[in-house]
Amino acid sequence: IKWVKKWSNEEIKNLVDQEIGLIDPRIYSDQDLYEIELERVFARSWLLLGHEGHIPKAGDYITTYMAEDPVIVVRQKDGSIKVFLNQCRHRGMRIERSDFGNAKSFTCTYHGWAYDTAGNLVNVPFEKEAFCDKKEGDCGFDKADWGPLQARVDTYKGLIFANWDEEAPDLLTYLSDATPYMDVMLDRTEAGTEVISGMQKTVIPCNWKFAAEQFCSDMYHAGTMSHLAGVLSSLPPDVDLSQVKLPSTGNQFRAKWGGHGTGWFNDDFALLQAIMGPKVVDYWTKGPAAERAQSRLGQKLPADRMVAQHMTIFPTCSFLPGINTVRTWHPRGPHEVEVWSFIVVDADAPEEIKEEYRRKNIFTFNQGGTYEQDDGENWVEVQRGLRGHKARSQPLCAQMGAGVPNKNNPEFPGKTSYVYSEEAARGMYHHWARMMSEPSWETLRP
Ligand code: FES
Ligand code: FE
Repeated sequence: IKWVKKWSNEEIKNLVDQEIGLIDPRIYSDQDLYEIELERVFARSWLLLGHEGHIPKAGDYITTYMAEDPVIVVRQKDGSIKVFLNQCRHRGMRIERSDFGNAKSFTCTYHGWAYDTAGNLVNVPFEKEAFCDKKEGDCGFDKADWGPLQARVDTYKGLIFANWDEEAPDLLTYLSDATPYMDVMLDRTEAGTEVISGMQKTVIPCNWKFAAEQFCSDMYHAGTMSHLAGVLSSLPPDVDLSQVKLPSTGNQFRAKWGGHGTGWFNDDFALLQAIMGPKVVDYWTKGPAAERAQSRLGQKLPADRMVAQHMTIFPTCSFLPGINTVRTWHPRGPHEVEVWSFIVVDADAPEEIKEEYRRKNIFTFNQGGTYEQDDGENWVEVQRGLRGHKARSQPLCAQMGAGVPNKNNPEFPGKTSYVYSEEAARGMYHHWARMMSEPSWETLRP
């Protein structure tokens, strides 16, 4: 690989000290590091693009991004999914410009080159009159040479991921030991999940890593300050506020490989009650749907004890089981992120519950949602500060949980710690630094 070389691999490794938890703030603001991220993190990782429910029928497509690269995600006649670069090979125009639809082919609106839904170039206006046939000379033109770049595609329980890198491990290997924690939201019923919203899109002026890291590792902000006003104002009027206690028990999980992480409170459903209301909490915790979920998940982990779970699959796939918002943090330079989010529910949930999920997400984790605003405001303030020279001169602290007596909870699989920890954040930054500085999958793979 011929890599961008503005930082040496050694310098990049030293930006993060995962043992004691020090983070060089320049990882959030440096343009050259961002260019390196596009090349080494985003062009080599499995990236979340959407849900199978976004493209149920042959020819259904969505247009989205793999980091800054535009792509088309399209259902094939045989039920498989293709993902290819949304860039016409003629002069680089976007092949398809609408957000979603159903197509038999895609025609570029610049000069009319047309591609089939598998990404083969099938029609070129004035091909016979204006292009020399390849068979008749070296200068020749053959449509078969001019299809857009194809990505590898795989799915995990409804979620569609793609990866540009032929050498990268397959998706299941990449997800490492994080899958039981994904299943808490994705595998509660054999009917699987369905999408109940379109793609919601928001721009937040902050680095993508603030968002990804918080969903990976940060219950601290929820249990202390950031969402306090939102939680208190959402409690039913008969609750005695002087009796309300912040949750203090729970765990965090750091994947053994890959930078993935999750955390949750144990047993205390007051927070979920405040965020999602009684109907959703009852559906999640009581009755046949909850019992069925527990019988499916219980072999792996006590899902019925987990509350307000947050999770990130490195780098940019994040979700909140129970609240059921799922999002991709599409990076837009070091200083901006586009949030593309959708809501999933058990496909066989009663209509009333689906409607309640939709309604509650509008109030909580959506452009106008209280909790989305709380989170975004923090990240925007941090990013604004990083314009300063001095603000970028000293490490930030990610030491919580490092060196404290082991609070591993053996009820849950993998490496767990106390819920108020930055163990998963250290795992994420450790993996980030490795992806940024190790050229070969020989040393990177699990
Ligand atoms: Fe697409 Fe010319 S750029 S046909
Ligand atoms: Fe939050």
